[in-house]
Amino acid sequence: MRIGISRESLKGENRVAATPKTISGLLALGYEVMVEQGAGANADFPDTAYREAGAQVVDTDTAWASDIVLKVAPPSEAELASLRQGATLVALLSPRTDDDIVARCAAAGITALSMDMVPRISRAQSMDALSSMANISGYRAVIEAAHSFGRFLGGQVTAAGKVPPANVFVIGTGVAGLAAIGAAGSLGAVVRATDVRPETAEQVDSMGATFVQVAPGAADQGVSADGYAKETTDDYNARAALMYAEQAQRADIVVTTAAIPGRPSPKLITADMVAAMAPGSVIVDLAATGGGNCELTKPGLSYVTPNGVTIIGYIDMASRLPGQSSQLYATNLTNLVTLLTPSKDGELVLDFDDEIIRAVTITRNGEVTYPPPPVQVSAAPPPTDAVAAAPPPGTPKRGLADRPWQVQTALICVGALALIGLLSLTPMAFLAHMTVLVLAVVAGFYVVWDVTHALHTPLMSLTNAVSGIIVVGALLQLDTDSWPIRILAFIAVLVASINIFGGFAVTNRMLAMFRRGTTDEGRKA
Ligand code: NAI
Repeated sequence: MRIGISRESLKGENRVAATPKTISGLLALGYEVMVEQGAGANADFPDTAYREAGAQVVDTDTAWASDIVLKVAPPSEAELASLRQGATLVALLSPRTDDDIVARCAAAGITALSMDMVPRISRAQSMDALSSMANISGYRAVIEAAHSFGRFLGGQVTAAGKVPPANVFVIGTGVAGLAAIGAAGSLGAVVRATDVRPETAEQVDSMGATFVQVAPGAADQGVSADGYAKETTDDYNARAALMYAEQAQRADIVVTTAAIPGRPSPKLITADMVAAMAPGSVIVDLAATGGGNCELTKPGLSYVTPNGVTIIGYIDMASRLPGQSSQLYATNLTNLVTLLTPSKDGELVLDFDDEIIRAVTITRNGEVTYPPPPVQVSAAPPPTDAVAAAPPPGTPKRGLADRPWQVQTALICVGALALIGLLSLTPMAFLAHMTVLVLAVVAGFYVVWDVTHALHTPLMSLTNAVSGIIVVGALLQLDTDSWPIRILAFIAVLVASINIFGGFAVTNRMLAMFRRGTTDEGRKA
């Protein structure tokens, strides 16, 4: 079969559905690849690079006459008409928000696959174009904000005086929000973030930002059933509005990304809140695509309010980084085509038993197959009573002292009995050592219990170092006539060695993931 890569006709769309790097992946699947002349020009991929990669550079009609056409934006009427009956079109078709697209594709008698319908399940991550684009958009939102903001983002001490860091507030900590936190933090800003899903607090903390929570109330939002946000209650909205008013006033830059799939963007920043912001502040409303999280956002535009606040409502953030977004989108597409080509023989197979293929297919040979059956996503653990009853984010983690008194008493009794038993069996000469051991176990338990997940890697290094000391001590003890001590020393050497070499093996494996040439990207490079 032939795959055609079209030049995007939509004004302002700079991305392209294949790059010279991804052409080799499509060719390896047994397809012939036809790239329309100038398709990659706006993303800095010249025709010559496609030719060198093994594709044929062809005119518009030839590209659109292919069996499969890959593109970014939905097709125009003329483009749809130029597809032949039974052809397959793969693009970001947005059937959730575009009421007409399904009917138009069905009327054209084609098979249409929508890249924005890839479900957020682990197996589909490599094809998740929405996440790829949201990641780029979150980064670009901060770059746009930094460009409009008249000061540094990072603090500095200069000969001319001290410069404080900028305060950045991120609303919604999904893919775009976390990317914005990362970008703002790396530029030196002080970052706060909030989300209606409390389970994201840990991710925010691990990125060095501070999670701001809505004051607890009678009806908390809790965790959603499918990993996405639930619609908020009036009671929650009222408490959230107080928090937004306070945070917006102290922020230099606000990046909003709050979205609930299939619903209009919630209005979180009101005109009054914007009026209370300092002149020179910037709001970047990534949710502008769905109407905006700020009441004053003008989708597609950037403007300055009468009180000097810049509100950026661009809806083409990913397209503003065309080289990067084309590379990621084209890789997502290639991964989907790989799934659709199980025999690697250049023949596309639409297997509806595969939940990813079923979810992305909105029409099949002119038959409407949208909406697909729901897919249970795995973005977050499903809510259980235990999770719903979990303390609000930001609450310090529970240590032993916070556990129910029955558990505490049982643990203390077991510990005391074990200690008495050990003391009665232990010769007096070892009493001092035993006391040190027991104290070390108790202190170690309390210290390790409260270490946050983000610090588990350095903690592992520390335990490796301690294991090294144990090995030295145990080796010295081997030189004794007492068999029980020899056996104990041998066990100590064995266990501590497992910890040391196991630690090295795990660290080595983790480092290999970052080494050039061992990742997919690296392999292709
Ligand atoms: P996501 O679903 O991963 O994240 C959205 C986050 O908003 C979720 O964590 C959700 O819990 C949170 N949220 C929902 N309602 C909320 C509320 N009332 N208060 C606080 N948080 C709330 O979505 P993703 O992929 O990060 O995309 C974010 C937004 O960026 C979407 O609206 C998307 O359309 C938009 N986007 C915009 C682009 C542009 O060029 N402007 C490009 C790409 C994405």
